[in-house]
Amino acid sequence: MSATEVATGLRVIETIAELRAWSRAARRAGKSVGLVPTMGALHAGHLTLVEAAKAGCDAVAVSIFVNPTQFGPNEDFADYPRTFAADCKLLETAGVEVVFAPRAEEMYPKGATTFVEVAGLSGRLDGASRPGHFRGVATIVSKLFLAAEPDRAYFGQKDAAQVAVLRRMTLDLALPVDLVVCPIVREADGLALSSRNRYLSAEERNQALVLSRTLAAVEAAFRAGKRSAETLTKLAAEQFATVPDVRVDYIAAVDWATLEPVAKVVPGNLFAVAAWVGSTRLIDNLVL
Ligand code: PAJ
Repeated sequence: MSATEVATGLRVIETIAELRAWSRAARRAGKSVGLVPTMGALHAGHLTLVEAAKAGCDAVAVSIFVNPTQFGPNEDFADYPRTFAADCKLLETAGVEVVFAPRAEEMYPKGATTFVEVAGLSGRLDGASRPGHFRGVATIVSKLFLAAEPDRAYFGQKDAAQVAVLRRMTLDLALPVDLVVCPIVREADGLALSSRNRYLSAEERNQALVLSRTLAAVEAAFRAGKRSAETLTKLAAEQFATVPDVRVDYIAAVDWATLEPVAKVVPGNLFAVAAWVGSTRLIDNLVL
């Protein structure tokens, strides 16, 4: 038995077999099962997903797994913040029943060569600048779904392209899981919460505000009747130009389902930005 009691109420599960047994037992007891996939370094954004899961499901598992396959060779896998003990405390306080924290070999058995590729979408937005990223995300999330067999799984709009990829995957594979998407949680000054914000120096933290400020300007222009994607992306580029130290990765107005660019924006389209602040890549978006 690999489950460990970290503290009263929170059970840490490390194997797929045990997670599946927990989920099936919950189902047999007539409970609905919710899953919140995370990479840990939990913050208030993650906790809103947990709250939504607790409100919507009888039994909730949160997975914490820094998934190696979604990081590129020159990305921050080794440096990604790992704060497991603090995460468990937060989850226990939030009243979560189970934390699934597998080792890499549990999710990727030696010699593993099977991946889930959502063609097309996986090469857009973050997928264009992070080749292989969404293949890694789709692969691990499908494995987590197979392990936890949740009725509902909770994701943040913060990673809007990820949501599009996972919605497509769930539809294409007819996975019996409802995806629930929760709004972006921000700091009081607008910065979207992210585990990567802890990489920012005080100066960079200030520069990073250009992302949310840009989106606010785009939203105001949209409300004022501007519908041309070209006009809105130009406006966004002008905002970014006011902070020359921040390097834009992409500014895009797209259809949220396909991530294809649109010429004329309509309500429900996604306006997404990604930018480098120092050596930290940040993303943010707005559903128009
Ligand atoms: P991670 O970056 O840890 O994020 C876990 C979930 O929290 C994602 O669904 C993400 O969109 C959501 N989230 C992050 N910041 C948020 C914010 N400010 N407001 C609302 N929700 C927020 O996304 C991943 O992990 C991984 O790719 C994962 C899906 C776990 C697969 O490895």
